[in-house]
Amino acid sequence: MPQVTNQPLTVTEAIESRHSIRKFVQEAIPKQDLLELIRLAGLAPSAWNLQPWRFHIAADPAMKAKLQEAAYGQQQVTSASVVAVVASDMEDVLEKLADTVHPGLSAEKKEEETANLSAFFGSMSVEERGQWGLGQTYIALGFLLLAAEGMGYATVPMLGFDPNKVKDILNLPEHVKFAALVPIGRKAAEGYATHRHTVDRIAIFH
Ligand SMILES: Cc1cc2nc3c(=O)[nH]c(=O)nc-3n(C[C@H](O)[C@H](O)[C@H](O)COP(=O)(O)O)c2cc1C
Repeated sequence: MPQVTNQPLTVTEAIESRHSIRKFVQEAIPKQDLLELIRLAGLAPSAWNLQPWRFHIAADPAMKAKLQEAAYGQQQVTSASVVAVVASDMEDVLEKLADTVHPGLSAEKKEEETANLSAFFGSMSVEERGQWGLGQTYIALGFLLLAAEGMGYATVPMLGFDPNKVKDILNLPEHVKFAALVPIGRKAAEGYATHRHTVDRIAIFH
């Protein structure tokens, strides 16, 4: 199956061909591809459609070098054309709930939904709702990895980094959570041969 393609892959093809790639072709990704990638990732579902994910895209070599240092020197960070920092910001969601509730609702329904959401999340601590939002953001991370693959780009999701350093680099507030750093680019070398559990090992029928 071709890795670099102008033909979008089917969902099954993208799932089967995706592997973590850590060496990338040294070239820029066109802005329109990045916007399309984020559009596709943003089509992920979330509870109450709150969409807490925020995608910080680092293409600048100096910023990628800082992110690599925050990621304990992992080389794939500077090898990649861009690094998508997949973040979750529930405080931003709650500050701007009017942005989030369905635009087709009546003014009265919008107010009711906004009040219900404020009460629900207001009863949680910032940390609790941060973790809640992070769970939603992992869905968008999965979409991002498969959307990139479908467009002919390779990725590697990464949690091996110091979140406080990444917040400093991107100038983000303390409450922001990270699902992953995702180096993205055209594949320049194969990834490790990975294995998966059999279906019998992970499927429990009742
Ligand atoms: C949340 C998450 C964090 C990961 N963190 C790292 C990382 O910091 N560095 C790295 O090289 N790979 C990282 N990986 C990649 C995994 O090692 C890889 O996905 C796994 O071995 C399966 O291989 P595959 O992605 O090629 O199927 C991470 C994967 C996930 C999903």
